[in-house]
Amino acid sequence: MEKTILEVEKLCFSFSKDKQLLNNISFKINEGELCLIVGANGSGKSLLLKCLKGLLKPTSATILVNGEDVSKKSKKRRTLFGLVFQDADSQIVGQTVEKDLRFGMENLNIQESEQIKRIDEVSILLTLKDLLKSRPRILSGGEKRRLAIAGILVMKPQIIFMDEPFANLDYPGVLQVLKSLLLLKESGHTIIIVSHEIEKIAAHADRLLLIEKGYLIANDIPELLLDKLPKHGVFVPTTQGKSVPIEEMTWLKH
Ligand SMILES: Nc1ncnc2c1ncn2[C@@H]1O[C@H](COP(=O)(O)OP(=O)(O)OP(=O)(O)O)[C@@H](O)[C@H]1O
Ligand SMILES: [Mg+2]
Repeated sequence: MEKTILEVEKLCFSFSKDKQLLNNISFKINEGELCLIVGANGSGKSLLLKCLKGLLKPTSATILVNGEDVSKKSKKRRTLFGLVFQDADSQIVGQTVEKDLRFGMENLNIQESEQIKRIDEVSILLTLKDLLKSRPRILSGGEKRRLAIAGILVMKPQIIFMDEPFANLDYPGVLQVLKSLLLLKESGHTIIIVSHEIEKIAAHADRLLLIEKGYLIANDIPELLLDKLPKHGVFVPTTQGKSVPIEEMTWLKH
């Protein structure tokens, strides 16, 4: 049976009264789903993640996580949701990979033995084990983004948000991050990804949300929305005038 993990109702956001940037956004996500949020530049995707995470205060919204109303509990939302920023570098603070992974856990006073256990688990999952003593500065783009993801995972969030996880990565970097994402999905994590590069990942998504000018204008399984996307500013690869089959929209060969 599918279980709703996140329910968002009528989320609105604006910086000023005269310009509404997110309008009555409502959707539900099931546990273990990989949800892809797409939309043209400036449509409000990053703002939506920041509002959910509690970094920005929605003008109004109802946000339920596992049935609990956390709309007014932005501090709790910050621990329930882990956000991997588009700019992975800005999230990396430790002198070594291991110290970086410890940073957030130390702030939460997590016991030393538990820290070691989580670092061990996450560094195996994201193949960072051989890099634990390395300085983050020397890592490749793909390794840095995996470290940013790992830094979020050790905090054990209920849902992982990723803002443009493939941005600025070369081909091997995209493959590394994509493989990591799919491992996370296989291990039962619920993931919400904002990306306009749907040709890299749409084959693996369970749900696609399309945002335009602050409105959620579609919410369905990806294959039903593909033909609709280009006129809303989202690139979809085509062959002979038709969008390529959904199972080909991945950079990982099955
Ligand atoms: N600090 C801010 N002050 C005023 N307006 C802002 C601010 N941050 C974002 N906006 C506006 O909100 C709108 C949505 O921005 P957002 O960053 O969510 O877009 P996005 O969909 O993530 O775009 P992109 O694909 O370029 O990352 C844009 O029109 C943007 O100009
Ligand atoms: Mg953005």
